This record gives sequence, C-alpha cells and structure tokens, in this order.
Amino acid sequence: MNAKLTTKTIPVKLKENSHYIHIGKGLFKTIASHIAKLNPGNFGIVITSPNIYAPYRKLILKNFKPGKYKIIQVVDGEAAKSKKWLFEVVEELIRANSWKRRPFIVCLGGGTIGDLGGFVAGIYKRGIPYIQIPTTFLAQIDSSIGGKTAIDSPRVKNILGVIYQPKAVFIDPDFLKTLPLSHFKEGLAEAVKYGVIKDPQLFNFLKTHHKKILQGDPSCILRVITACVAIKAKIVEQDEKETKSLRTILNFGHTFAHALEGSLKYRKISHGQAVALGMVYAANLSFNLGFCSQQPVSQIKEILELFGLPTTIRFNQLKAYQSLVYDKKFLTGRLRMVILEKIGKVRVSEAISPSEIKKTFKVLNRPFIDKYR
Ligand SMILES: NC(=O)c1ccc[n+]([C@@H]2O[C@H](COP(=O)([O-])OP(=O)(O)OC[C@H]3O[C@@H](n4cnc5c(N)ncnc54)[C@H](O)[C@@H]3O)[C@@H](O)[C@H]2O)c1
Ligand SMILES: [Zn+2]
Repeated sequence: MNAKLTTKTIPVKLKENSHYIHIGKGLFKTIASHIAKLNPGNFGIVITSPNIYAPYRKLILKNFKPGKYKIIQVVDGEAAKSKKWLFEVVEELIRANSWKRRPFIVCLGGGTIGDLGGFVAGIYKRGIPYIQIPTTFLAQIDSSIGGKTAIDSPRVKNILGVIYQPKAVFIDPDFLKTLPLSHFKEGLAEAVKYGVIKDPQLFNFLKTHHKKILQGDPSCILRVITACVAIKAKIVEQDEKETKSLRTILNFGHTFAHALEGSLKYRKISHGQAVALGMVYAANLSFNLGFCSQQPVSQIKEILELFGLPTTIRFNQLKAYQSLVYDKKFLTGRLRMVILEKIGKVRVSEAISPSEIKKTFKVLNRPFIDKYR
C-alpha cells in the first residue's frame, strides 16, 4: 500500500481464498495501482452505476483506462440484482473474451453492485477473480465482506446466490461524502448491530460520538468502519459458510426486519429502518423471555433514536406474523432467533414460541415509557 496513506489492513484468513480488506481515506485515487499488485487478471470489467459514475467520473476514468478495463453502468439500486443485468454483465465478459485476456470483475458501488458482480464472478466459467470497492456505508461495513453474493428473482430477494470470496476489498470512506444521509443511516443501523452483538466499546463510541458521525466527521467514521469490518471479518473467518451458527449472530434484528419488509412489500420501509425496528423487537423479546435486563433494551432504543432511526411503527401484526412463519428460519413450530444477553453479547435460540412472538409485537406499537425500570 501507498506509504503516504494511512491505510489499515484487516486480513480475512480462510482455508481457501484468504484475502485482505484495505481501509483508507483517498485509497480510490490510486486504485488501479493497488489492483495491479494483486494481479487478478489483465482485463477488468468495472461494474458501476450512474449515481457513482457521475460524481467520480474523473477518478474512474483516470484509473480504469481503456484497453485494460471496460466500464459498465448498470441501473442504480436493487433492480441491478436481476436476470437482465446478470446477462448484460455476462455478455460483456463474453465480448471481452480472447485467448490473451484473463478477465476479472471490479464491483464499484453499493451492496447491490457488490452482490451482482460477486455473483457473476462466482458463476462465470465456474469462477473468475473479483474485487470489491464498496461506495455506500452499508457496503463498506457489511455487504462487501464475507463473500455472500446474490441476485433476486422477481418475487424473492437473494434467491440465487453463492459464497465466493473477493481477491481484496478496498474501502475508501471519501465515497461517503456524496452519499445521501438517508442511505448513510442504512449503514448506521448495521453499525449499531455490530456494537450490540460483539463490541460494547463500539456501542459506546457510537452513542458518545453520534453528532459527529451524523455530521460526517472523517476520523469518527473511519473508526466505526474499522471496528465493524474487524468484527465481520473475524466472524467470517470462524464460520465462512454459516455452518456453525456463528455467522447467524449477524442476523440480530433481521428476523423481524425481514418479516416487516415482507409484510409491507419493501415499499414503505428501508432495510436500515426495518433492522432498527427488528433490534428493538429482538431486545424486547429477549427481555420478555428473561434473557436480559431492561437496561440494554432501553440503551438500544436510545442509540437508534439518537441516529434518527425508527423504534416504533404501526404495522399489520397478522401479516408480519405470517411472514415470520413462512421465513426459512422457522423450524418445527419454534422460531430460531438471535437473542440479546447484554450489550456485546448475543446468542442463537432455536426455541422461541409463537405466543411470545405475537405478544412482543405490541412493544413496537406503543410509545416506550419504561426507562431503566
Ligand atoms: N452480500 C451481503 O453479505 C449483503 C449484506 C447486506 C446487504 N446486502 C445487499 O446489499 C444491498 C443494499 O446495498 P446498499 O444499501 O449499498 O444499496 P445500493 O447498492 O442500492 O446503493 C444505494 C443507492 O446509493 C447509490 N450510491 C452508492 N454509492 C454512492 C455514493 N458514494 N454516493 C452517492 N450515491 C451512491 C446507489 O447508486 C443507490 O442508488 C441489498 O441488495 C442487500 O440485499 C448484501
Ligand atoms: Zn442488514
């Protein structure tokens, strides 16, 4: 790495396909030279989209020169994870094919582009190298790490996917300068999640520095990114394929979030908002079941409110319940969920009963009055 840049490098040590995650302000300015050192191939297909291409055009063109790279712009947002864009990228790879060329993919964008590009890389000719350059806060702390890739069918999100590790991940927080605050908050919900599941210090940092973080203070944001990435990398190292239920703890707040998203058909709520509500729900459920005291429940709610994330919602409880029942995590009449013990400690329970699930729905519908009871 460039000595002038203060780059933090976090390893992801796996049985196969170990790699590094590089985090540094300004890293993207000279990204082509960092990629070249990895020798992933000699022809890069850069997948990006208009919202990223427009503000970073100069740097993109400076780094990804014709002859060595081809830049393709897919649609912004979730629609990129579709059959249409899968085949657009595949066609581009086929066009780029020649006996001299060893193609690789560069995913330059949010989680949608990372998921699409990683998926194509995983299945094209049974796998070609790819590089993650995440440009949203969520992608920088979550989706670019761990090798989970997927596209959607018209009715079901992430239904086609593979676990396929990138050659490297390059995280440049400077990208966040152009990210709308609403998208930044998507990532904040996940950052709070990391604090809750593994890191009380991160949780405290988020609370005490919430104003600076919301104002986009670079050093605070760098610190949060580094802490989150380190947590996810460690979890992935220990349970890459999610066979030991260790990786499952990353789903804290997500069981209810997915049910809510499903019951609202993804229209009225963003994923970050759903995760915020899901964490409030999971924390309350844990309290109701006697796994934790009231204090961490109130702390979670407080921090989410500081970040302007929702903690109550009017929703159709029957629809949400049905959505939960049909969720793949529902095993033998009992729900599998990540349960809170205290800030920094969670565990997976396989035995949550339907009646508790329904009972706890109420906490999201009523104003929260109990503080440190
Ligand atoms: N693979 C995983 O482990 C994993 C984990 C979590 C989420 N995901 C997936 O990630 C996706 C969500 O990712 P996301 O939240 O990054 O959304 P996204 O990729 O849709 O990006 C959000 C919006 O911001 C724009 N954008 C991206 N970077 C920008 C920048 N620097 N400046 C201005 N605009 C920018 C995008 O064009 C898009 O319009 C979902 O499809 C989800 O399923 C995957
Ligand atoms: Zn999430």
